[in-house]
Amino acid sequence: MDGSSLTPTSPGTDRRTFHKIASVVFGSILGLVLTIPGAAFVLSPVLKRSGSSGDSGADDGFRPIAKLSDLEEGIPRVFPILGKSTDAWVRYPEEPIGSVWVIRKGKEVTAYSAECPHLGCAVGLGPDGNSFYCPCHTSSFGFDGQAKNKIPPRGMDSLEVKLAASPSGDDPEILVKFLRFRTAVPEKTPLV
Ligand code: FES
Repeated sequence: MDGSSLTPTSPGTDRRTFHKIASVVFGSILGLVLTIPGAAFVLSPVLKRSGSSGDSGADDGFRPIAKLSDLEEGIPRVFPILGKSTDAWVRYPEEPIGSVWVIRKGKEVTAYSAECPHLGCAVGLGPDGNSFYCPCHTSSFGFDGQAKNKIPPRGMDSLEVKLAASPSGDDPEILVKFLRFRTAVPEKTPLV
């Protein structure tokens, strides 16, 4: 008869087995604990995008440009548009993302994107001082935004404007909703 099957397990063997199992269990728990923050970091942009509206939800898209008193009657002024850009993990500081021409008649303010609807160059003031002009291919526009020659496919792109009351009530802030539009097409089509 083979006596080995009847040999009782020694206390030393039990201890080794116990230590092995304990090491595996402890290692698994530790691995899990260390993995959770990393996984949360990697997934957070995805979760944020799908689970919350972030800053854009509270933002109606209007940006402060200037005070009404900064504009002289009938004299257009150009203002930079500052914005933050964000990729999946990094939010970059504010930087210029475009510019707008703003012109005032009384308390009525009109704004145009300074991006030429022809091919996107920056529109400036014409040499006559009474029109807008794009130096790239000589598109010309009136102060009403209408095209003055046949080079651009449409007039300048107007932007929504609203005036926000100042605390004193006498010099409202001009807010402009900045958008970009497709170039080289006759329709004013916002880019999303
Ligand atoms: S881009 Fe302005 S005229 Fe062509």
